[in-house]
Amino acid sequence: MSVILAIESSCDDTSVAICNNGKITANVIANQTIHQNYGGVIPELASRVHQQNIVPAVQQALIDAKVTKQDITAVAFTRGPGLLGSLLVGVSFAKSFALALNIPLISVNHMHAHILAHFIDDPKPAFPFLCLTVSGGHTQIVLVRDYFDMEIVGETLDDAAGEAFDKTAKLLALPYPGGPLIDKHAKLGNPLAFKFAEPQIPELNFSFSGFKTSILYFIRKQEKENPNFIAEHLDDICASVQHSIVQILLNKLKKAAKQYGIKEIAIAGGVSANSGLRNGLQQTADELGWKVYVPAFQYCTDNAGMIAIAGYHKFLAKDFVGQEVSPMARMEF
Ligand code: KG4
Ligand code: ZN
Repeated sequence: MSVILAIESSCDDTSVAICNNGKITANVIANQTIHQNYGGVIPELASRVHQQNIVPAVQQALIDAKVTKQDITAVAFTRGPGLLGSLLVGVSFAKSFALALNIPLISVNHMHAHILAHFIDDPKPAFPFLCLTVSGGHTQIVLVRDYFDMEIVGETLDDAAGEAFDKTAKLLALPYPGGPLIDKHAKLGNPLAFKFAEPQIPELNFSFSGFKTSILYFIRKQEKENPNFIAEHLDDICASVQHSIVQILLNKLKKAAKQYGIKEIAIAGGVSANSGLRNGLQQTADELGWKVYVPAFQYCTDNAGMIAIAGYHKFLAKDFVGQEVSPMARMEF
């Protein structure tokens, strides 16, 4: 019997979820809109807003899950990676809650949790599977042997795929976070209108830094000839950039699948909400006989549901931490 309260506060969303015997019965996400004024997340503001949001989010989660504080059997929290000030709010709250109710404390790696989001709903992937984890801070191909037996077999050497989306959006004067807006405009444009070279990076690794610069130079050059270039071609630019990013991701995923002889393929993290990636993955699956797994939208971007399910599996393994545990901005995988 377990009722786990989970807290996620690694970046700019304050989220609280409840996992009742392996089922997510609440997943409250309080977004912080304040960062839109600055074109990116301001860490100091993020931690302040987490402080305002956390108690109401916990209260709402208890109401949604129809449980009381006394029903909670353990508290799970994101220990890292993330912004230190933001993590501190979640860790401190989780510790106090666990101490006051005299219940165990469970620390969760944010990137493990993105992958374990696949174990919230059916169908669930079978071990071993490969997971492309693509978020605002990470781009990784992970070989998942078991719930907590994971190995990064490829990753970005510089920027993450989400950053490539967000920075392109910034160049196009779209507000932060730009990924979902690029996705929206891409649906109306031609993905083959403009071509961007695929970076040639060895093995299963990625690089998006040069790619991002090539988009900057392309736009500058076009604007010299036509100052209205962006406004006149916004949909086509978004569709072409999205198509290129998706191709880079899928080509490495195909290489990994071949190398490891694995056909159970999952995607996770904020960028897994992207419609181009979802469609491209399904198309590749049809061609290569893969079984693919994509989380529900609410479990793609940062959410405490994924922390709760990871916490549930740690609870079953009695993998608890003490009050002395520290938040870690960067964390061993
Ligand atoms: O996992 P996440 O919520 O936070 C991190 O852990 O970083 O990922 C956020 C990232 C942002 O870069 C955001 O622009 C991107 O995911 N994202 C998308 C879409 N939805 C979120 N990128 C492209 N298309 C989307 N539909
Ligand atoms: Zn994340």
